[in-house]
Amino acid sequence: MADDTQAYKGPKRVFSGVQPTGDLHLGNYLGALKKFVALQDDMECVYCIVDLHAITVWQDPKELADQTRQIAAAYLASGVDPAKAIVYNQSAVRAHSELAWYFNCVARIGWLNRMTQFKDKAGKNSEKMSVGLYDYPVLQAADILAFKATHVPVGEDQKQHLELTRDIAAKFNHDFNAPNFFPLCEPLIKGPGARIMSLRDGTAKMSKSDPSDNSRINLTDDADKIAKKIRKAKTDAGEMPADIEGLEGRPEIANLVGIYAALAERTDADILAQYGGQGFGGFKSDLADVAVAALQPITDLMVRYLSDPEELNRILAKAADRATEIADPIVADVRKIIGFCGS
Ligand code: TYM
Repeated sequence: MADDTQAYKGPKRVFSGVQPTGDLHLGNYLGALKKFVALQDDMECVYCIVDLHAITVWQDPKELADQTRQIAAAYLASGVDPAKAIVYNQSAVRAHSELAWYFNCVARIGWLNRMTQFKDKAGKNSEKMSVGLYDYPVLQAADILAFKATHVPVGEDQKQHLELTRDIAAKFNHDFNAPNFFPLCEPLIKGPGARIMSLRDGTAKMSKSDPSDNSRINLTDDADKIAKKIRKAKTDAGEMPADIEGLEGRPEIANLVGIYAALAERTDADILAQYGGQGFGGFKSDLADVAVAALQPITDLMVRYLSDPEELNRILAKAADRATEIADPIVADVRKIIGFCGS
């Protein structure tokens, strides 16, 4: 695998995306947005708001544009700098849809049948889901490969989709005898925050779709709400363990310690050394302070960005032009490689 990644000689480029489907939560922030900011000084970064992915399930047309600006505001408020990174919405760049069609003819049905996220989202109702939801990972591959992205920062739940992206890239390169045309992207998953769990159940992922709002901290929550949710977060009958081994079999505690460590940029071991042997009250109260200190400035900035929707529209439109300039020649090369008449 590593050799394949290294065989690609093109420039290094980062791509990632977030769906405009409701409030972002702490998992999105730690698993994705915080990493986006860290990367923008080192590589060319393309950060997309994936509105084409959003419509794989019903979105109210009256709300979609606002939801899109909401994610744009969250990117910028988290520290993504539009002068450095390219921040735009997916539907404004045609290359995504076009390449997705070509990849539909490369990906195999058996590959898609193995995607666990579709199974999780569709549950027993898979027959009633949109074809787009089933095809979601192929569009995701097109997103990444329309930019020949080499690095993709995401949370752990996206691992399987990135493996599929690599499979599609490898099959395209092989079938069309175009060695290393597409890079085999490297997922950037590791690190604190890769898998933030629900505050109500340490075995379930923190998710926008959890019916309980107390299961997640939203980027739009105010200080009181954050503190209340952390106070109510599920713990167990024991006390704070003093070391990593003590987190074994205690998913809720492991999650809270992981959140603290990720937000405060400290290690789990460090946090445990500080609170080991104590009850949960003091730890939770400090965690609430850490969470508010990290998130409140982002929430406040988001409100400021959202107060000027026209400015957000301008930022997105300008970046969509930059994105098109990169992606169009790549997709034109794909047309030539496939052998279309006139390409
Ligand atoms: P979305 O909007 O569902 O999630 C956005 C990002 O948040 C991460 N994430 C989490 N990380 C840690 N803990 C959690 N509980 C948690 N929940 C969500 C996700 O892993 C993701 O990084 N399919 C993508 C959107 C996408 C994309 C792409 C990403 C479309 N095309 C191309 C990368 C490259 C998604 O999950 O969006």
